[in-house]
Amino acid sequence: MSKLPSVVAMDGPAASGKSTIGELLAERLGYIYFDTGLMYRAVTWLALDRQTPVGDEAAVTALAETVDIDVLPPTVEDGRQSTVLVNGQDVTWALREPRINANVSPVAAYGGVRAAMVIQQQRVAARGHIVMVGRDIGTVVLPDAELKVFLVASAEERARRRWLEEQARGGRRTLDEVLAEIHRRDEIDSTRPIAPLRPAEDAIIVDSTGLKPGQVVEEILRKAGYST
Ligand code: CDP
Repeated sequence: MSKLPSVVAMDGPAASGKSTIGELLAERLGYIYFDTGLMYRAVTWLALDRQTPVGDEAAVTALAETVDIDVLPPTVEDGRQSTVLVNGQDVTWALREPRINANVSPVAAYGGVRAAMVIQQQRVAARGHIVMVGRDIGTVVLPDAELKVFLVASAEERARRRWLEEQARGGRRTLDEVLAEIHRRDEIDSTRPIAPLRPAEDAIIVDSTGLKPGQVVEEILRKAGYST
């Protein structure tokens, strides 16, 4: 077994299992888990809260440059993976609302928003022993990460996972509506000019379709040469 990576970069499309797998892998390695998607969600939440049109790039960028986002270990035991404070306000569950899903990809496509978030992410990762999850972690945020994972799963399976999550929280959208949104977000995330979603050249690609979370973690460690 080779020396463990200090930093793991994990990327993949919407609902590809990054948060479940990332957290499990972090637990397995004894590392911190950090979900960068929360930061783009936090900026989107703030824009909607302030009634700033998400299409107004300059205004949204100004918000991203001044917002105070804190991602902390869970402060309440209600199933959350972390607690997110935006300017001191706990917005953890609000970040999962459909209105955020519907608006986050356009917000995350703005160069100024990304620049502001990436600086903070690099600062967090500099301490090491971290599994950082997102869309551009292996390509832009941490290009020198020792282990890069790109998680994929079929759009149908990803839509089903997201739909089940929504149903559990009382959501009313149909599976077809969720699938349409997954396709739309994949399209925006992969075709944007800045930091598009794509695997880094040295990433290992793992397909989680039909696999249980524990099996995916084993597959990652095996493919990367870390299993005993
Ligand atoms: O959980 P899900 O995969 O649906 O989304 P997420 O990981 O919370 O990310 C939400 C959105 O933020 C993505 O659709 C991307 O548009 C954006 N994002 C990004 O651009 N770069 C990242 N490193 C993380 C998220």
